[in-house]
Amino acid sequence: MSTPSSAQTGSLACGLDQAAKEDVPTTIVVFGASGDLAKKKTFPALFHLFQRSLLPKRLSIIGYARTHMSPEEFHKRVTSHFGEDVDKKSVANFLQLCTYFSGKYDVADDFRSLRKEIEDREKKMKPGGSGNRVHVYYMALPPSMFVDVATQLKNNVYDDSCTNRLVIEKPFGHDLKSSRVLSKEIGSLFEENEIFRIDHYLGKEMVKNILTLRFANVFYEAVWNRHYISNVQITFKEPFGTEGRGGYFDEFGIIRDVMQNHMLQVLSIVAMTQPQSLDAEDVRDRKTEVLQRILPIQLEDTMLGQYVASIDGSKPGYKDDDTVPKDSITPTFAQCVLHVDNDRWRGVPWVIKAGKALNEAKMLIRIQYKDMPNSLFPNLARNELVIQVSPKESVYIKTIVKEPGLSTNLAMSELDLTYKTRYHDISIPDAYATLILDVLNGDHSDFVRSDELDEAWRIFTPLLHKIERERVEPLPYEYGSRGPEGAYQFVEDRVGYKRT
Ligand code: NDP
Ligand code: BG6
Repeated sequence: MSTPSSAQTGSLACGLDQAAKEDVPTTIVVFGASGDLAKKKTFPALFHLFQRSLLPKRLSIIGYARTHMSPEEFHKRVTSHFGEDVDKKSVANFLQLCTYFSGKYDVADDFRSLRKEIEDREKKMKPGGSGNRVHVYYMALPPSMFVDVATQLKNNVYDDSCTNRLVIEKPFGHDLKSSRVLSKEIGSLFEENEIFRIDHYLGKEMVKNILTLRFANVFYEAVWNRHYISNVQITFKEPFGTEGRGGYFDEFGIIRDVMQNHMLQVLSIVAMTQPQSLDAEDVRDRKTEVLQRILPIQLEDTMLGQYVASIDGSKPGYKDDDTVPKDSITPTFAQCVLHVDNDRWRGVPWVIKAGKALNEAKMLIRIQYKDMPNSLFPNLARNELVIQVSPKESVYIKTIVKEPGLSTNLAMSELDLTYKTRYHDISIPDAYATLILDVLNGDHSDFVRSDELDEAWRIFTPLLHKIERERVEPLPYEYGSRGPEGAYQFVEDRVGYKRT
């Protein structure tokens, strides 16, 4: 069977090759270019787009950081995660677009020199294009540097004759108050429509797909409400601990690390009503409305855990890491029940669950339907729609069928759309490639708006403060296990989830 073309099925509004088509002279400055994110995600994503001719034709990429590096060292660093079998010529062509600039993050002279570098490189770009120019400032930096860099940019580099875009990485603050301070400071320098707050989950294929599944298929949307849905679970599991990042993680914990951002973003897309259009502001309005209808999460509705060494002792516990305080109460596992108090969802419990050092890698959304009313069949299991975001992109519906053959028994089966099988000739891009392309296209749909951020912190801040103030002890669970004892029972008891 052939894959349907976008002409047959319609397409999302944001023309994916818009930047390349318009051919606008573009400069991307990556701050923190010596760092981990730049090496593992930002530059590989840029290269991915370059290989597919999706970057603007007139382009300059400048890596900026304090570390002194020769051009060769810089090139070696940024290509280190391009993979084994890349085309060397393609890499060489890409590197011609890239240069490195060493400077401090709070020194005006360094930023003035950066401006000169940008201008010199723009002059060298092939003539032509629309006359318009785009400057993208990508902060692959620790958050403590965001305001310094944004201030220097505004004072010494910002050019109001071109389109300026500031890309910020999470974490955006530590709680509601600090997030508001950060938003205010950045907001006094850059307009909201110039700011792109990255939550990389919004760039993942299956997360982007939720909107399409829901609003392009009549049979999903028709039963997407409290009349048919019993409960929804959004689960994030990682099979590794905080190895090497314990010190960083201890300041945040699993709630700040993935729940307040990635999981709440996913929830808001699953729960939103249909936006008026695919325009970024319409989409973000609908997501914000969902968040506004969620009450702050209570400790009573929450279970916290922290991993200890694996049973066989081969994997260390969280507190075995020397960078983690021995009396740390930071949760590495959490699950909480919340409600979206609107007409569509009233009475439907949502569970968000996240943990490190668990038994498997998995991110999925599990929507469990209600029992079949007036059923012909006794003791029917429930239908479920599962959207698996990772590691295996898939959508499947747990469906009851007659056992094949002469039997008249019922059996649970699946209508299964596993992407690897159905779209085996399509490579799914990393979330960062998708998001960088959106930045180049000026499309904010998959970036977090300041009011969404505010709501997300409002929902979690009282719980976070209570945990810290009362030093709530997390329950222990073994590295590689399914979480603290009672974790699954908690979900069954609290939301009426029935195993299928
Ligand atoms: P790094 O710790 O690698 O920092 C990036 C660069 O910033 C460093 O190379 C260093 O460059 C500079 N830097 C580091 N610490 C300081 C400091 N205290 N003061 C001034 N400059 C400093 O960070 P990552 O690349 O891991 O992350 C960057 C951002 O992306 C963060 O906001 C992070 O939360 C976010 N993020 C990272 C992910 C990842 O996979 N790494 C995933 C998701 C988000 P130099 O000294 O040369 O100037
Ligand atoms: C990051 C968190 O935002 O997301 C990490 O800080 C987590 O702790 C990561 O491991 C998960 O992202 P992905 O894309 O690997 O699922």
